[in-house]
Amino acid sequence: MDQYAVFGFPIGHSKSPVIHRQFAEQTNQPLSYEALEVSSEVFDKTIADFFKANGKGVNCTVPLKELAFEKVDSLTERARFSGAVNTIKLLADGRLLGDNTDGVGLLTDLCDNLGLSLGGQRILVLGAGGAARGILGPLLEAKPSNLWLANRTVSKAQAMQQLFAPIGDIQPSSYEALAGQQFDLIINATSASLTGDLPPLAEDLLAVNGVCYDLAYSQQPTSFVRWGEEQGASLSIDGLGMLVEQAAHAFNLWRGVMPNTTTVRESLRG
Ligand code: ATR
Repeated sequence: MDQYAVFGFPIGHSKSPVIHRQFAEQTNQPLSYEALEVSSEVFDKTIADFFKANGKGVNCTVPLKELAFEKVDSLTERARFSGAVNTIKLLADGRLLGDNTDGVGLLTDLCDNLGLSLGGQRILVLGAGGAARGILGPLLEAKPSNLWLANRTVSKAQAMQQLFAPIGDIQPSSYEALAGQQFDLIINATSASLTGDLPPLAEDLLAVNGVCYDLAYSQQPTSFVRWGEEQGASLSIDGLGMLVEQAAHAFNLWRGVMPNTTTVRESLRG
């Protein structure tokens, strides 16, 4: 049986095995999918062993996405822009292809599942680390009227502006310099939620009927999701939908069939 896995550290709470096993059942694909705890130190050896056995594809999560980017033999264009690989596919000639399905996963959740249309919208992304870099390309391609990128360390936001200039304009900013602006969609791509923190956000940033989206997800509403609710967002939601959608795009890359995500999202929301 073809083998797939998610590698990460820690990996205990990963929902990827449940998601991919549901996809496999639904599409009648005979495959196995496991979660393996893999630290940065043993990543190279574990990848080599996995593909020498019957491994056909791997998802990579924290802290391995940048290492995977370095490891693969070729990259999709969206992976090259994002500087990170979340999906590795063994090609017929034995080479490893690296893709990044995070951005397309977010766009699918925002547009197809939640019914938003981003064209002409004012979008603010909070944070300029790896998570932000994975989504900026697809967001720019959706042609918002403007895309602001706020970060504590403004130089990192400025570096992203340079990097993505071939795709579109990004306005780098400190949190303080957001004062007076309003946004239709605010996306949290900082790791602050994970520790219950919030970037310093002014009270009037969210436009009437605005939407807040946290790339992170957890059983309880994240601090950013709660902030959005307090601001009167028409929708304030975490990134569980994105997680399922990025998995669906990885599954499609591996198996050539796009699974239906609706029932999987519903069962995870439980
Ligand atoms: P990831 O790959 O998850 O994006 P990262 O590359 O370490 O992780 O980046 C974390 C992001 O969260 C950064 O934008 C970081 O801001 P700085 O670049 O200024 O460090 C942001 N971040 C983390 N904790 C934060 C907090 N408490 N308040 C505001 N921003 C925070």
